[in-house]
Amino acid sequence: ASTRRHTFVVKEALYTRLCSTKSILTVNGRFPGPTIYAKKGETIIVDIYNRGKENVTIHWHGVKMPRYPWTDGPEYITQCPIRPGSKFSQKIILSSEEGTLWWHAHSDWTRATVHGAIIVYPKNGTKYPFPKPKVEVPIILGEWWKSDVNAVRDESLATGADPNVSDSFLINGQPGDLHPCSKSGTFKLTVDHGKTYLLRIINAALQEALFFSIAKHKMTVVGTDGSYMKPLTRDYIMISPGQTFDVILEANQHPDHYYMAARIYSVAPIGNYDNTTTTAIVQYRGYYTPSSPPSLPHLPGYNDTNASVNFTGSLRSLGDVEHPCNVPLSMSTKLIYIISMNTFPCADNSCTGPNGTRFSASINNISFQSPRIDILKAYYYNISGVYGDKFPSVSPLVFDFTSKYPPLEYQMSRNGTEVRVLEYNSAVEIVFQGTNLVAGTHHPMHLHGYDFYVVGWGFGNFDKNRDPLRYNLVDPPIQNTISVPTNGWAAVRFKASNPGVWFMHCHFERHLTWGMDTVFIVKNGKHLEAQMLPPPSDMPPC
Ligand code: C2O
Ligand code: CU
Repeated sequence: ASTRRHTFVVKEALYTRLCSTKSILTVNGRFPGPTIYAKKGETIIVDIYNRGKENVTIHWHGVKMPRYPWTDGPEYITQCPIRPGSKFSQKIILSSEEGTLWWHAHSDWTRATVHGAIIVYPKNGTKYPFPKPKVEVPIILGEWWKSDVNAVRDESLATGADPNVSDSFLINGQPGDLHPCSKSGTFKLTVDHGKTYLLRIINAALQEALFFSIAKHKMTVVGTDGSYMKPLTRDYIMISPGQTFDVILEANQHPDHYYMAARIYSVAPIGNYDNTTTTAIVQYRGYYTPSSPPSLPHLPGYNDTNASVNFTGSLRSLGDVEHPCNVPLSMSTKLIYIISMNTFPCADNSCTGPNGTRFSASINNISFQSPRIDILKAYYYNISGVYGDKFPSVSPLVFDFTSKYPPLEYQMSRNGTEVRVLEYNSAVEIVFQGTNLVAGTHHPMHLHGYDFYVVGWGFGNFDKNRDPLRYNLVDPPIQNTISVPTNGWAAVRFKASNPGVWFMHCHFERHLTWGMDTVFIVKNGKHLEAQMLPPPSDMPPC
């Protein structure tokens, strides 16, 4: 395979949005950052120079990095940060991925502005499993705070409460016409009547899932998270942070201009959610008098969980000869992970979180604490005292997780740095069980180093006798980020065929900060081709 090389200079730049200017962290001065184009199976090298003022790492979201976790990117999981003034050359090793992925910073909340698309084309001599579109265009959904994002984070950490909500969402870096001082920058997609367009949609927002729709047009979803799907035609999609969708838009309406729009999907109203509608324009080429204003699409209500699961529950992998679906059928490792929002006592009663505590988030009641040396290094070089490998098992389920009055031990999490070790090639099933302990919400759970098959989901408590009978073992979607429904569960399966150290976490940045994360260590297999490759010589020092 051929190798391409890119340079990423991480540095501050001034950007004006919503009538005010601030300095943000960027790659090469651009926001959103540059798109990386590749062909299936290629390896790409990115030379990363940190010319900013804070530590940074870069992650290739959805790239499986076979046997090479060294440049996967999550801070203190697979590497120590790239300090200001230093450099790290990272490999992106593509294998089976084809479609849309993305890259983002994976250090604190820097990914708010440090992110961009990765577009993986079919190999030479192979084609898309759909007619070739006239134009392809990344649609990157983001989030903007007028204040400094680090200040938003610090305030939330200091008070122990939810962070301030953003001032707007963004489409390709722009709030859109409905926001003040934003009209001239609004993103425009110019289309020719009768042609088709491939939208490569990425939710890079820090904190919120979004509904997305285009006025008067249907969208046909043909891929997600770097895998193809059976075409699914809908009026709207629901996209969680971390997810990507490949969507075909047919320019088949009356020549005019139309809004595409994104708006929050949330459980509770967050701020003034009506003001969070962000728009861009689909503009037909030609001579006509455009309607004024352009028509807005209908988007589901902010708390329309049925609309959300109606979409996500309809995803099916393509499963043809070239894109087979090989769901593991007999499981060697079955895990139930209780993902909860809980509370944590405050040392000095200063917290303004629930009942004078601070928010905490956990998996199996452990709120993950970042170590000081990365877990990959500790594992590879046998450095003890960095992490424990006793991640607790909670099976069988012992109480009603949707109840508001669970046993006390589940209301408060404990801190820890615990990992789960998996044998090479074990067949793993994880059931994520959401709860309603402090706040019932959905959670976009993301696994590094793997794609997984989403074999089932439901509301309420997972029933280990009844629910597996309804699993889709024929054509479940292949994803790397799954929206676990509010007060519900989702089951995923994968084969642990990629040795290394792999992060798993909620892709809501505040939940990640509060500890909704854990790590899998997948051991080497017997044969050399089943073993981790050695580290590069320029790993950032701890
Ligand atoms: Cu999108 Cu841990 O990453
Ligand atoms: Cu979460």
